[in-house]
Amino acid sequence: MSNNNQTTYVKKIGVTQWEQSSARLDWAADLEAGCVLHFEALPFVVNPSEQRFFNAGIQSKGARNISLDSRGTLKGMIAPVEDQEALTRFILRYRSLAQKLVNSAFPKYTEHLRVAPTSFRPNQVETRAQSVRADDKRLHVDAFPTRPNYGERILRVFLNVNPVDKPRVWRVGEPFIDIANQFVPKIKPYSQWQAQVLNALRITKSLRSEYDHLMLGIHDGMKMSDEYQSASNQITYNFPPGSVWVCFSDQTAHAVMAGQFMMEQTYHLPVTSLYDPETSPLAILQKLTNKELV
Ligand code: SIN
Ligand code: FE
Repeated sequence: MSNNNQTTYVKKIGVTQWEQSSARLDWAADLEAGCVLHFEALPFVVNPSEQRFFNAGIQSKGARNISLDSRGTLKGMIAPVEDQEALTRFILRYRSLAQKLVNSAFPKYTEHLRVAPTSFRPNQVETRAQSVRADDKRLHVDAFPTRPNYGERILRVFLNVNPVDKPRVWRVGEPFIDIANQFVPKIKPYSQWQAQVLNALRITKSLRSEYDHLMLGIHDGMKMSDEYQSASNQITYNFPPGSVWVCFSDQTAHAVMAGQFMMEQTYHLPVTSLYDPETSPLAILQKLTNKELV
């Protein structure tokens, strides 16, 4: 069954400046409810000399994307030093605009946001072959097997920077509560002992909490179910070049179906810094299971 009421999944926003003159509680409410905010008209200028970066060949073999970490180190690019410096400036320009948008629209987040790497993704989505668990062409919420986050939120700001007329095509799925209700009952019980083994073997970077166990179970359960992939409530949505979109990717079910050349900025945010912490996956899962998960 497909619910094609797009406006419940994606909110279009027409502002033309990255910096907002005051907090946008209306956007925050939509964002924290799991919607994708689609900014259709934020300006991002690509200089003529930067056109050369629109080439999938600049990415190192084996790298998932090209990324600039918070200390300014560029990873995943094969190119001469001067190109690396120019690409760093290109990515930094995007990072600072994304920061401006988030800080001005959501000042409650500002002080507690942790800036994660910014990525440039020159790969063509349609031709990328991956294992089911790693395949972002399948609907999922973000959860990472090696990096437990104890409920901390994953906020992402995306830009389709494609130089021709190629949209980035996403599927966006149903509310997190509906996903949790379907998958949580099927997840095998959390084992503290197993989490300790994974941690001792350094398979995880810290002890996997019960929250992280459930989030991974949901992520894997969604991706592994062909039935869920095709029959769950979802829409297909095109982000044309120049689009900026924002979502909590640990909450909003998403899949990328097509596109090439995207910028992406990730932030981590404590649950207590949300406008309404009760909307978080942590709060929803704690209510559902009736226990403390971190
Ligand atoms: C993802 O976050 O799952 C992929 C998003 C994209 O590449 O558009
Ligand atoms: Fe994802």
